[in-house]
Amino acid sequence: MTNTGNIQKKSILKIKDLRKSFGDNHVLNGFNLELFEGENLVIMGKSGSGKSVMIKCLVGLMEPDSGSIHVLGKNLLNLNQLELDALRINIGFLFQGSALYDSMTVRENLEFPLRRHKNKFGNLKDTTPLVEETLKSVGLLKAIDLMPSELSGGMKRRIALARTLILKPKIILYDEPTSGLDPITSKEIIELMRRVQKQYNTSSLIITHDVDCARVISERMILLVDGVNYAEGTFKELEAYKDEKVRAFFK
Ligand SMILES: Nc1ncnc2c1ncn2[C@@H]1O[C@H](COP(=O)(O)OP(=O)(O)O)[C@@H](O)[C@H]1O
Ligand SMILES: [Mg+2]
Repeated sequence: MTNTGNIQKKSILKIKDLRKSFGDNHVLNGFNLELFEGENLVIMGKSGSGKSVMIKCLVGLMEPDSGSIHVLGKNLLNLNQLELDALRINIGFLFQGSALYDSMTVRENLEFPLRRHKNKFGNLKDTTPLVEETLKSVGLLKAIDLMPSELSGGMKRRIALARTLILKPKIILYDEPTSGLDPITSKEIIELMRRVQKQYNTSSLIITHDVDCARVISERMILLVDGVNYAEGTFKELEAYKDEKVRAFFK
């Protein structure tokens, strides 16, 4: 627990002194982060600054060289495969792009994670109500029988979000949720993220280099520069910085 003003905030996710290099390429050089319950935390960093590397370490897809990662009170780097799988159910991960299965319908894409996590959901005989309810929450019930190739870029992003939400995660990690989308569709996706955040009461870590996205959705921000958290604060606070490296984000 951390005391901020009068409000006790529960720590959901904590990264300490995370380091990761690929040969001479020192990507993360002691990165720190703490995400509190119900919060939207934005990490901004230039392309190639290590945002995806950081998020992959967070979900156990990549092993850091050193540092610690605590998720929901558990030390991620000490878990065996079974424990890691159990923890992962609580973490929704939206990859860069949408990564839907092209050979499956929208319905099958949403059923897929349910089948993989039978332990949490039991042997769901009829998944239809849950699939329908989740599609409704992203405004795309009508797409239930379509193939991904029949969807626009924005719709794919919505379905990918639905596929994450169907497991009712406590944390959602977004890697560049608006990349490759036109400004209007980006805005719709950001609005949707805010809406589901409230509806599902999730805590979100949003990785982006999109200033407009950060402005709208962030309650707090961290700027990732040179592999460390170079600056932290609200959008307004960071926007007022005189430092050149911080200014560069807002130009
Ligand atoms: N599996 C890998 N092997 C070697 N280098 C990698 C690997 N993944 C990422 N990198 C390097 O790490 C740096 C950060 O990449 P990334 O985290 O993808 O950046 P971004 O901030 O754009 O998401 C880049 O220089 C990239 O080339
Ligand atoms: Mg990336």
